Amino acid sequence: MFGEQKIAYSGVQPSGNLTIGNYLGAIRNFSEYSEKYKTFYCVVDQHAITVRQVPADLRRRTYETLALYMACGLDPEKNTLYVQSMVHEHAELAWILNCFTMFGELSRMTQFKDKSARHADNINAGLFTYPTLMAADILLYQTDVVPVGIDQKQHVELCRDIAERFNQLYPGTFTIPEPIMAKHGMKIMSLAEPTKKMSKSDENANAVVYILDDRDTIIRKFKRAVTDSGAEVRYDPEEKPGVSNLMSLYSCFSGKTIEEIEREFDGCGYGDFKLAVGEVTADALAPVQASFHSLMADKGALEALMKKGAEEASWYARRTLAKVQKKLGFVQIR
Ligand code: TRP
Repeated sequence: MFGEQKIAYSGVQPSGNLTIGNYLGAIRNFSEYSEKYKTFYCVVDQHAITVRQVPADLRRRTYETLALYMACGLDPEKNTLYVQSMVHEHAELAWILNCFTMFGELSRMTQFKDKSARHADNINAGLFTYPTLMAADILLYQTDVVPVGIDQKQHVELCRDIAERFNQLYPGTFTIPEPIMAKHGMKIMSLAEPTKKMSKSDENANAVVYILDDRDTIIRKFKRAVTDSGAEVRYDPEEKPGVSNLMSLYSCFSGKTIEEIEREFDGCGYGDFKLAVGEVTADALAPVQASFHSLMADKGALEALMKKGAEEASWYARRTLAKVQKKLGFVQIR
């Protein structure tokens, strides 16, 4: 809570290209919250450098992520859209929170364990303290709810623990945030290994459909999607993870229920079904892509938005950081 306002906050990394999993699991649902909450959506470029980035790519993706936010329906008049590194309070609060976060807690984070296995040659301290920067993001805005995919829930829970610990020592500092899974949000699985989450860092290009893939690419990827040796379009995530994942996707993009889909494809082979999933996905993404490309064509306008967003965000961030510094005993001379 900031004054009378309830706050919703979320972030997306500008690393890798965003997938339909990011779209359905998170971004598509972000606009729902602006009715009820004051909303902040951040492009978290400082989180992205916990793994090595090519500077030109990071910069381009930062613009692209902001443009995608808007293309997915976030109106910059109704939501504060901004870039993390442009608001210096994030890094400052992150340092402070590092001093209130335990080594053991960070060691238990599954994302840290996964990423350090994947980047064994670069297990840097930033990768380890990633969750304290994320906690700073959330707590700076006195956030009430954090819309995230299921994989980020553990980080939000750690953020709550840190905030509660801090409040115990310095009462009334932070609002305790709650993770919320989007109403229609869901976990989208890899097309190549349907028991694994679809991930933008997957090395197998056929496993992942990107929001910006063109129609032919989308249809080709769905044609190659791994299913099973059966022939029935039936929802059974245990026995038929591939087909069930495709059914979820079809349902998300068409608005049809699983039962309707089972009826629609009763007696059809997997080939026809996969083609239908590809088509409905390409149709649904077409307007998002068109809007994205027109936004990207005007860099100046995007930069003006970044500036406006950072100014809006700073107004809130400054207040919380000043409160924290005062409570801690840092000298404040105005
Ligand atoms: N860690 C999140 C992810 O990888 C991104 C993120 C950073 C975030 N800061 C956040 C999400 C604050 C919600 C709130 O998806």
